[in-house]
Amino acid sequence: MSKLIELSDLPQAAQGPVLFWQRAIENPLQVCSLFPSSPFVGRAMTEVLGKRIESHVIELGAGTGAVTRQLIRNGVEPGKLTLVEIDARLGGHLRRRFPDTDVLIGSAEDLAKVWQERNGENVGAIISTLPMRLFSKKLIYLVMKNSLQVLDEGGMFVQFTYRQTSPVPPRVVNALRLKAWRYTRVWLNLPPAAIWVYERMPQPREI
Ligand SMILES: C[S@@+](CC[C@H](N)C(=O)[O-])C[C@H]1O[C@@H](n2cnc3c(N)ncnc32)[C@H](O)[C@@H]1O
Repeated sequence: MSKLIELSDLPQAAQGPVLFWQRAIENPLQVCSLFPSSPFVGRAMTEVLGKRIESHVIELGAGTGAVTRQLIRNGVEPGKLTLVEIDARLGGHLRRRFPDTDVLIGSAEDLAKVWQERNGENVGAIISTLPMRLFSKKLIYLVMKNSLQVLDEGGMFVQFTYRQTSPVPPRVVNALRLKAWRYTRVWLNLPPAAIWVYERMPQPREI
């Protein structure tokens, strides 16, 4: 496969964005963006977690680590952070860039199986920049269902999107009995983004 630029020719700091562009050009439907997220996206996605940043956190679709960097900067411990990335080259980059995190190379829809096999600890939050808008409803359902299986009772699934409306369709939200709400818009991103939160509906109380 021809390469636009040899990564080894570039200084370490430049490798992230260049690798992102390479993978976006070679695989546009999977990466689905020409620019890594701005630091403001990662910051907003961490802010909404509150105390959950002290628990184990999983990031889906970590790419070159733009959001990962902010998660760590804003208090998530690298040793309690698992990064899931389907693209093996991006996964390799993540392992080099964040050696103290746990990097899983594979698809987000297999998360529950992998987590069960390795007896993974309880997870307080899942942060996702997966290109949900390009996923089929079935795939979104599987990603969300798997995520709920590994999330604590009070856990939170946080998703970014470029549009106004929920990236998880109402049918999936209802089928999984979720509460969906938009946390904020992030104007300082190309293009501007929005952060959505999905939580389990509280169980009805006995009367
Ligand atoms: C829009 S990019 C976000 C990258 C980075 N987190 C950021 O914010 O700049 C989406 C990422 O999700 C990854 N991805 C797409 N489908 C995936 C799947 N089913 N499982 C895991 N990762 C996936 C892509 O390879 C890409 O790195």
